[in-house]
Amino acid sequence: MRAVVKGVFVVLMAAFLAVAITAQEKPGGNAEAAKVKNPVAMSPDSIAAGEAIYMKRCRGCHGREATGGPPKEAGDHEASNLVDDKWDHGSTDGEIFYVIRNGVPPELVMEPWDDRLSETDTWNIVNWLRSKAKK
Ligand code: HEC
Repeated sequence: MRAVVKGVFVVLMAAFLAVAITAQEKPGGNAEAAKVKNPVAMSPDSIAAGEAIYMKRCRGCHGREATGGPPKEAGDHEASNLVDDKWDHGSTDGEIFYVIRNGVPPELVMEPWDDRLSETDTWNIVNWLRSKAKK
């Protein structure tokens, strides 16, 4: 009897762990990235720099107003609206920074930009998106 109880306990623990691990992998944020604070103040200079880079690198898919839509290069993948309050991969500055630098796997239609953007420029884009979202 004891062995049966122990067996049930082990199975329950395994099920619990499986659920916990799956929950972590779901889209909807990244607890580690969320802890990262934006080190770049939201100054007019930062916002202007962010806008310039966005227009060069991101507009083709996310649109001039950053409202997303079907991007020309992205096939059936809708590019996300970046100025509403719905975030699929986390809403904090740290999480947005993480997505821009690392892309969205597994397809990576949203590519990683860490090889082409400095960290400061990535924060500048985050600041520009924040300033637009407020309007
Ligand atoms: C080739 C098209 C393409 C380009 C260029 C592109 N993106 Fe994306 N982006 C996407 C797609 C598609 C998604 C949705 C990915 C998903 O959720 O599967 C996305 C998602 C995102 C997200 C996550 C949004 C959310 O709801 O969590 C952010 C932030 C983002 N992009 C920012 C940027 C920035 C900043 C740039 C420029 C440096 C950029 N993207 C360039 C296609 C693109």
